[in-house]
Amino acid sequence: MAYIEVKHEYKRYQMGETEIIANHDVSFEAEQGQLTVILGPSGAGKSTVLNILGGMDSPSSGEVVIDGVDIAQFNDRQMTTYRREDVGFVFQFYNLIPNLTTKENVELASSIVADALDATEVLNQVGLQDRLDNFPSQLSGGEQQRVAIARALAKNPKLLLCDEPTGALDYQTGKQVLKLLETASRQENKTVLIITHNAALAKWQTASSTLTMPRFVRSRTTLTQRPSKTLSGRGVDDETINEEYVARNVPVKRAADRNYFDHYAGGSDFCRR
Ligand SMILES: Nc1ncnc2c1ncn2[C@@H]1O[C@H](COP(=O)(O)OP(=O)(O)O)[C@@H](O)[C@H]1O
Ligand SMILES: [Mg+2]
Repeated sequence: MAYIEVKHEYKRYQMGETEIIANHDVSFEAEQGQLTVILGPSGAGKSTVLNILGGMDSPSSGEVVIDGVDIAQFNDRQMTTYRREDVGFVFQFYNLIPNLTTKENVELASSIVADALDATEVLNQVGLQDRLDNFPSQLSGGEQQRVAIARALAKNPKLLLCDEPTGALDYQTGKQVLKLLETASRQENKTVLIITHNAALAKWQTASSTLTMPRFVRSRTTLTQRPSKTLSGRGVDDETINEEYVARNVPVKRAADRNYFDHYAGGSDFCRR
């Protein structure tokens, strides 16, 4: 049995008279200790799936089995424990606390779990030993993302979920961040899930294979969404993500654009104010 098994998962949102189907019959598996990349165009429902896997949202129907347990059945209390103890999350825009130092940002996360790792040690691991006392504003984007990864790893989570972790970074820096995630997966035997709309990631994967990072694979992931569409094997490659693909697979794109702010800029209230 795979470590993560998402089976026939649906997520629907009611927006006034319109029903938005964010996930339509999503099924896929990911193995323990593997790094899995899910590639898909903007609006495909990737963040929705990741938030559900991270216990931040629950599906309208379907099963979300992690390590043999269907978290879709969890009550609020179980969900809180799951989120706190088992999941590390990495976001596109880092979400660091601006008035805490590098070390304090990591310690804040590790302070809420029982078997946390030492903040300084984890920060060494991500190469930030010289930036422990800097504030986020004094760090580059790549460094801030490394703090965010250290913060997630310090919780010693079973599962590391990354939502467009390289989305705000230049190509080279993004590559370093991916390499770091790959190392975490390999050395700490972490199950890492990365979602991205960036088909160039497929190129990075090729590049990293030549750099002998063979576990940087999508090959074990089969993600189906909408009955006729099966993304499998090596996932969606550059050529598949063309305008036609986007047109067929992104039926609610405008809503996705609006929701960008929900995810990354503090919620819809923030937008309205
Ligand atoms: N809380 C929400 N309320 C209404 N619609 C949502 C909500 N979250 C996501 N959606 C919609 O679901 C679809 C998939 O969104 P998302 O999971 O963010 O896609 P992706 O991460 O692949 O770009 C989008 O059309 C988006 O607008
Ligand atoms: Mg997204």
